[in-house]
Amino acid sequence: MNPGHPTSAAPLVKGVPRPGMVEQLTRSCYRAARPLLFRTGDAESIHERTVAAVGRIGGSALLRGLARAVTGPRGDAVEFAGLQFPGPVGLAAGMDKFGVAAQGWSSLGFSHVELGTVTARAQPGNPKPRLFRLPTTGAVINRMGFNNPGAAALAERLRSYGITRGGNQAGLVLGVSIGKSKVTPLEEAVEDYVTSLREVAPHADYIAINVSSPNTPGLRTLQDKGFLTELATTLVAEAKSLDPVAPVPVLVKLAPDLTTEAVAEAVGVCTDAGIAGLIATNTTIERRGVAQADRALVDQAGGLSGAPLRRRSRGFVAALTAMTDLPVIGVGGIMTPADADRMFEAGARLVQVYTGLIYNGPALVSGINRRHRGSL
Ligand SMILES: Cc1cc2nc3c(=O)[nH]c(=O)nc-3n(C[C@H](O)[C@H](O)[C@H](O)COP(=O)(O)O)c2cc1C
Repeated sequence: MNPGHPTSAAPLVKGVPRPGMVEQLTRSCYRAARPLLFRTGDAESIHERTVAAVGRIGGSALLRGLARAVTGPRGDAVEFAGLQFPGPVGLAAGMDKFGVAAQGWSSLGFSHVELGTVTARAQPGNPKPRLFRLPTTGAVINRMGFNNPGAAALAERLRSYGITRGGNQAGLVLGVSIGKSKVTPLEEAVEDYVTSLREVAPHADYIAINVSSPNTPGLRTLQDKGFLTELATTLVAEAKSLDPVAPVPVLVKLAPDLTTEAVAEAVGVCTDAGIAGLIATNTTIERRGVAQADRALVDQAGGLSGAPLRRRSRGFVAALTAMTDLPVIGVGGIMTPADADRMFEAGARLVQVYTGLIYNGPALVSGINRRHRGSL
């Protein structure tokens, strides 16, 4: 089990500091503005505008300073997969697929961001609409389908920002999630991932292998023992051949819908292949926990995230950390700082948020940091 690891962001049961005035104000302002924000367009275009706004913050020293004053300092540093993370909470994959705001996320208090998922080939993703908010539930259903400009285009953008591996130019640990191009048959998937890894590795502090998104046909099959063995072994070897002295750490992100046996198998494969850590979990194809008021959307195809995923992801992380010493990033249904505490209690060493940020805004990040700061 990992929970007692000296550098983990250990849960703070006692003496949790109360939110400061700025954090309370940020939370109240976001809550007051949220209905208006949610009405200003369809979910996807609001999302794009929000990410672009964070990008503008990142591009201006003045705005970065202002944002930092509002979000407050980050929590204690955490060591994970040989990297030093300057705080316990990161932004999950999918929010900033193209790295538009790569330079802005640290100002919101994040210790890391997982850009992507990108694929070897540029692709448009699924037809719109493909992103649905379930506001009463506090959830989202998405079937984006890896819409992205391709791994080479992301690498080019990061190059234009002057972001290099290990350089900390974005003020945080920068991971890149890679997936399979839709047109690539499963039998050629490994080469497809290798192409992406080669493109982004010079700009990424870690690489996340995404084999768990439900929106690319057949992708989750890559979690099966045979596929995963070949994929993980090849990508770790590729990372070593690119940098034999200090290879970029390769992580694997898993789906919450795997059976216990399949999880155990995947863990065995990852350990043997030299995977540096696990990310759990991606969205679920299940629909339990959706509120009556949101039932009209329940049959939309795609992955469900947010509040209904909370217990499932936490249980998954607890099971994972009981079976392996590989460090785990816990993600799924973290809507409040207390949810993050429980994810740490389950054994996660770091946490990531996505849907919670949509519903609760940047005060969620400040709140998690506040509870993991100093020698509390
Ligand atoms: C709109 C949307 C797009 C996503 N895209 C990706 C993706 O490209 N790659 C990935 O690994 N996970 C993706 N995810 C999954 C999240 O990274 C996260 O694992 C999941 O949403 C659970 O966390 P949450 O409950 O905090 O949202 C996406 C989630 C959402 C809501």
